[in-house]
Amino acid sequence: MDLRRILESPAVYQKFQELGGFFGARLKAMMAYMPPLPDGSTVFDIGCGPGHIVEHLGKVNYHGFDVAPDYIEFAQRTFGHLGTFHLRQFDATAVVEFGKARAVMMNALIHHLSDEQAVSLFRTVRDSLEDEGFVFTLDGCLREGQHPFARWMHTHDRGEFVRTEEGYRRILEQVFPRVTMHIREDLSWVPHTYCVTVCHLANR
Ligand SMILES: C[S@@+](CC[C@H](N)C(=O)[O-])C[C@H]1O[C@@H](n2cnc3c(N)ncnc32)[C@H](O)[C@@H]1O
Repeated sequence: MDLRRILESPAVYQKFQELGGFFGARLKAMMAYMPPLPDGSTVFDIGCGPGHIVEHLGKVNYHGFDVAPDYIEFAQRTFGHLGTFHLRQFDATAVVEFGKARAVMMNALIHHLSDEQAVSLFRTVRDSLEDEGFVFTLDGCLREGQHPFARWMHTHDRGEFVRTEEGYRRILEQVFPRVTMHIREDLSWVPHTYCVTVCHLANR
Protein backbone atom coordinates (compact mmCIF):
# COMPACT_ATOMS: atom_id res chain seq x y z
CA MET A 1 0.00 0.00 0.00
CA ASP A 2 1.53 3.32 -1.09
CA LEU A 3 0.40 6.14 1.23
CA ARG A 4 1.62 8.75 -1.26
CA ARG A 5 -0.72 7.41 -3.96
CA ILE A 6 -3.64 7.19 -1.54
CA LEU A 7 -3.15 10.85 -0.58
CA GLU A 8 -3.82 11.84 -4.19
CA SER A 9 -7.51 11.39 -3.38
CA PRO A 10 -8.78 14.82 -2.20
CA ALA A 11 -11.11 13.35 0.43
CA VAL A 12 -8.48 10.98 1.85
CA TYR A 13 -5.85 13.73 1.84
CA GLN A 14 -8.06 16.07 3.84
CA LYS A 15 -9.10 13.33 6.30
CA PHE A 16 -5.41 12.57 6.87
CA GLN A 17 -4.72 16.28 7.45
CA GLU A 18 -7.57 16.58 9.93
CA LEU A 19 -6.93 13.35 11.87
CA GLY A 20 -3.22 14.10 12.26
CA GLY A 21 -3.93 17.65 13.38
CA PHE A 22 -2.03 19.00 10.36
CA PHE A 23 -4.98 21.01 9.08
CA GLY A 24 -5.53 22.43 12.59
CA ALA A 25 -1.83 23.33 12.62
CA ARG A 26 -2.31 25.48 9.53
CA LEU A 27 -5.21 27.29 11.21
CA LYS A 28 -3.25 27.84 14.44
CA ALA A 29 -0.24 29.16 12.52
CA MET A 30 -2.43 31.51 10.48
CA MET A 31 -4.11 32.75 13.65
CA ALA A 32 -0.77 33.35 15.35
CA TYR A 33 1.27 34.91 12.56
CA MET A 34 -0.77 35.96 9.54
CA PRO A 35 -1.42 39.71 9.31
CA PRO A 36 -5.13 40.62 9.20
CA LEU A 37 -6.98 40.39 5.89
CA PRO A 38 -9.42 43.27 5.41
CA ASP A 39 -12.74 42.31 3.77
CA GLY A 40 -12.38 42.21 0.00
CA SER A 41 -8.64 41.46 0.06
CA THR A 42 -7.36 39.42 -2.83
CA VAL A 43 -5.68 36.18 -1.73
CA PHE A 44 -3.67 33.86 -3.97
CA ASP A 45 -3.25 30.37 -2.50
CA ILE A 46 -0.54 28.56 -4.46
CA GLY A 47 -0.56 24.77 -4.09
CA CYS A 48 -4.07 25.06 -2.66
CA GLY A 49 -4.76 21.30 -2.76
CA PRO A 50 -8.46 20.46 -2.18
CA GLY A 51 -9.08 24.04 -1.03
CA HIS A 52 -10.49 23.63 2.48
CA ILE A 53 -8.57 26.64 3.81
CA VAL A 54 -10.87 29.00 1.90
CA GLU A 55 -13.56 28.38 4.55
CA HIS A 56 -11.32 30.09 7.13
CA LEU A 57 -10.30 33.30 5.37
CA GLY A 58 -13.35 35.50 5.78
CA LYS A 59 -14.76 37.68 3.02
CA VAL A 60 -11.84 37.67 0.62
CA ASN A 61 -11.43 37.46 -3.13
CA TYR A 62 -9.80 34.03 -3.19
CA HIS A 63 -7.91 32.36 -6.05
CA GLY A 64 -6.49 28.87 -5.50
CA PHE A 65 -3.84 27.45 -7.86
CA ASP A 66 -2.72 23.85 -8.09
CA VAL A 67 -1.30 21.47 -10.69
CA ALA A 68 -3.24 18.40 -9.49
CA PRO A 69 -6.46 17.98 -11.55
CA ASP A 70 -8.29 15.88 -8.91
CA TYR A 71 -7.65 18.44 -6.16
CA ILE A 72 -8.77 21.38 -8.32
CA GLU A 73 -11.87 19.57 -9.56
CA PHE A 74 -12.84 18.73 -5.94
CA ALA A 75 -12.08 22.29 -4.76
CA GLN A 76 -14.13 23.93 -7.50
CA ARG A 77 -17.05 21.55 -6.91
CA THR A 78 -16.98 21.91 -3.10
CA PHE A 79 -15.84 25.48 -2.53
CA GLY A 80 -16.56 27.16 -5.87
CA HIS A 81 -19.07 29.44 -4.07
CA LEU A 82 -16.23 30.82 -1.91
CA GLY A 83 -13.50 31.32 -4.48
CA THR A 84 -12.07 30.39 -7.86
CA PHE A 85 -9.74 27.46 -8.40
CA HIS A 86 -7.27 27.27 -11.26
CA LEU A 87 -5.55 24.19 -12.64
CA ARG A 88 -2.25 25.88 -13.44
CA GLN A 89 1.07 26.99 -12.07
CA PHE A 90 1.34 30.51 -10.77
CA ASP A 91 3.50 32.32 -13.33
CA ALA A 92 3.99 35.74 -14.90
CA THR A 93 0.84 35.33 -16.99
CA ALA A 94 -1.19 34.83 -13.79
CA VAL A 95 0.17 38.11 -12.43
CA VAL A 96 -1.12 39.89 -15.54
CA GLU A 97 -4.44 38.05 -15.47
CA PHE A 98 -5.34 38.29 -11.77
CA GLY A 99 -3.68 41.54 -10.69
CA LYS A 100 -2.11 42.16 -7.30
CA ALA A 101 -2.85 40.41 -4.02
CA ARG A 102 -2.82 41.41 -0.37
CA ALA A 103 -1.76 37.90 0.59
CA VAL A 104 -0.08 35.01 -1.15
CA MET A 105 -0.37 31.79 0.84
CA MET A 106 1.67 28.65 0.34
CA ASN A 107 0.68 26.00 2.82
CA ALA A 108 3.01 23.01 2.46
CA LEU A 109 4.18 23.96 -1.03
CA ILE A 110 7.84 25.03 -0.86
CA HIS A 111 9.05 21.61 0.20
CA HIS A 112 7.78 20.33 -3.16
CA LEU A 113 10.08 22.76 -5.04
CA SER A 114 13.83 22.78 -5.64
CA ASP A 115 15.75 25.89 -4.58
CA GLU A 116 15.77 27.14 -8.18
CA GLN A 117 12.04 26.54 -8.66
CA ALA A 118 11.23 28.15 -5.31
CA VAL A 119 13.32 31.28 -5.93
CA SER A 120 11.81 31.67 -9.38
CA LEU A 121 8.28 31.31 -7.98
CA PHE A 122 8.95 33.79 -5.16
CA ARG A 123 10.24 36.34 -7.68
CA THR A 124 6.98 36.01 -9.60
CA VAL A 125 5.00 36.20 -6.37
CA ARG A 126 6.88 39.34 -5.32
CA ASP A 127 5.65 41.04 -8.49
CA SER A 128 2.08 40.07 -7.64
CA LEU A 129 1.99 41.67 -4.17
CA GLU A 130 0.37 44.95 -3.24
CA ASP A 131 2.77 47.32 -1.45
CA GLU A 132 1.28 46.33 1.91
CA GLY A 133 1.00 42.70 0.91
CA PHE A 134 2.66 39.66 2.42
CA VAL A 135 3.53 36.05 1.74
CA PHE A 136 2.60 33.36 4.27
CA THR A 137 4.28 29.96 4.09
CA LEU A 138 4.14 26.82 6.21
CA ASP A 139 6.23 23.70 5.63
CA GLY A 140 7.68 20.73 7.45
CA CYS A 141 11.20 21.35 8.69
CA LEU A 142 14.27 19.30 9.62
CA ARG A 143 15.85 20.10 12.96
CA GLU A 144 18.54 18.36 14.90
CA GLY A 145 17.03 16.70 17.96
CA GLN A 146 13.47 16.76 16.62
CA HIS A 147 11.05 13.95 17.50
CA PRO A 148 12.07 10.78 15.59
CA PHE A 149 8.56 10.38 14.19
CA ALA A 150 8.55 13.96 12.91
CA ARG A 151 11.92 13.29 11.27
CA TRP A 152 10.59 10.10 9.71
CA MET A 153 7.55 11.93 8.34
CA HIS A 154 9.62 14.77 6.91
CA THR A 155 12.10 12.42 5.24
CA HIS A 156 9.27 10.32 3.74
CA ASP A 157 7.14 13.26 2.61
CA ARG A 158 5.77 13.44 -0.95
CA GLY A 159 7.76 16.67 -1.23
CA GLU A 160 11.42 15.92 -1.87
CA PHE A 161 12.79 19.21 -0.56
CA VAL A 162 11.98 19.39 3.16
CA ARG A 163 14.67 21.74 4.50
CA THR A 164 16.16 23.08 7.69
CA GLU A 165 15.22 26.54 8.94
CA GLU A 166 18.42 27.86 7.32
CA GLY A 167 17.48 26.16 4.03
CA TYR A 168 14.12 27.93 3.89
CA ARG A 169 15.64 31.21 5.04
CA ARG A 170 18.30 31.12 2.32
CA ILE A 171 15.62 30.95 -0.37
CA LEU A 172 13.28 33.58 1.03
CA GLU A 173 15.98 36.11 1.86
CA GLN A 174 17.12 36.09 -1.78
CA VAL A 175 13.80 37.65 -2.69
CA PHE A 176 12.25 39.45 0.29
CA PRO A 177 13.88 42.15 2.43
CA ARG A 178 11.82 41.21 5.49
CA VAL A 179 11.39 37.56 6.45
CA THR A 180 10.00 36.56 9.83
CA MET A 181 10.36 32.87 10.62
CA HIS A 182 8.87 30.74 13.39
CA ILE A 183 9.75 27.13 14.17
CA ARG A 184 6.92 25.36 16.02
CA GLU A 185 6.59 21.80 17.26
CA ASP A 186 3.36 22.16 19.24
CA LEU A 187 0.83 22.79 16.47
CA SER A 188 -0.37 19.21 15.88
CA TRP A 189 -0.76 16.21 18.15
CA VAL A 190 1.27 14.11 15.71
CA PRO A 191 4.90 15.16 16.18
CA HIS A 192 5.84 17.55 13.42
CA THR A 193 8.27 20.44 13.06
CA TYR A 194 6.75 23.42 11.24
CA CYS A 195 8.57 26.32 9.64
CA VAL A 196 6.12 29.24 9.32
CA THR A 197 7.17 32.43 7.58
CA VAL A 198 5.72 35.81 6.79
CA CYS A 199 7.54 37.88 4.14
CA HIS A 200 7.06 41.55 3.26
CA LEU A 201 8.24 43.73 0.42
CA ALA A 202 9.60 46.52 2.56
CA ASN A 203 12.10 46.24 5.38
CA ARG A 204 10.13 48.09 8.03
C1 LIG B 1 1.14 19.09 0.55
S1 LIG B 1 0.00 19.70 -0.62
C2 LIG B 1 -0.65 21.10 0.25
C3 LIG B 1 -2.08 21.37 -0.09
C4 LIG B 1 -2.74 22.46 0.73
N1 LIG B 1 -2.11 23.75 0.52
C5 LIG B 1 -2.73 22.13 2.20
O1 LIG B 1 -2.30 22.96 2.99
O2 LIG B 1 -3.17 21.05 2.58
C6 LIG B 1 1.03 20.48 -1.85
C7 LIG B 1 0.26 20.90 -3.06
O3 LIG B 1 1.10 21.64 -3.93
C8 LIG B 1 0.76 21.31 -5.26
N2 LIG B 1 1.88 21.72 -6.11
C9 LIG B 1 3.11 21.16 -6.24
N3 LIG B 1 3.87 21.88 -7.09
C10 LIG B 1 3.11 22.93 -7.50
C11 LIG B 1 3.33 24.05 -8.37
N4 LIG B 1 4.49 24.23 -9.01
N5 LIG B 1 2.33 24.92 -8.56
C12 LIG B 1 1.15 24.78 -7.91
N6 LIG B 1 0.88 23.74 -7.09
C13 LIG B 1 1.85 22.84 -6.87
C14 LIG B 1 0.47 19.83 -5.21
O4 LIG B 1 -0.32 19.39 -6.30
C15 LIG B 1 -0.26 19.73 -3.88
O5 LIG B 1 -1.64 19.89 -4.03
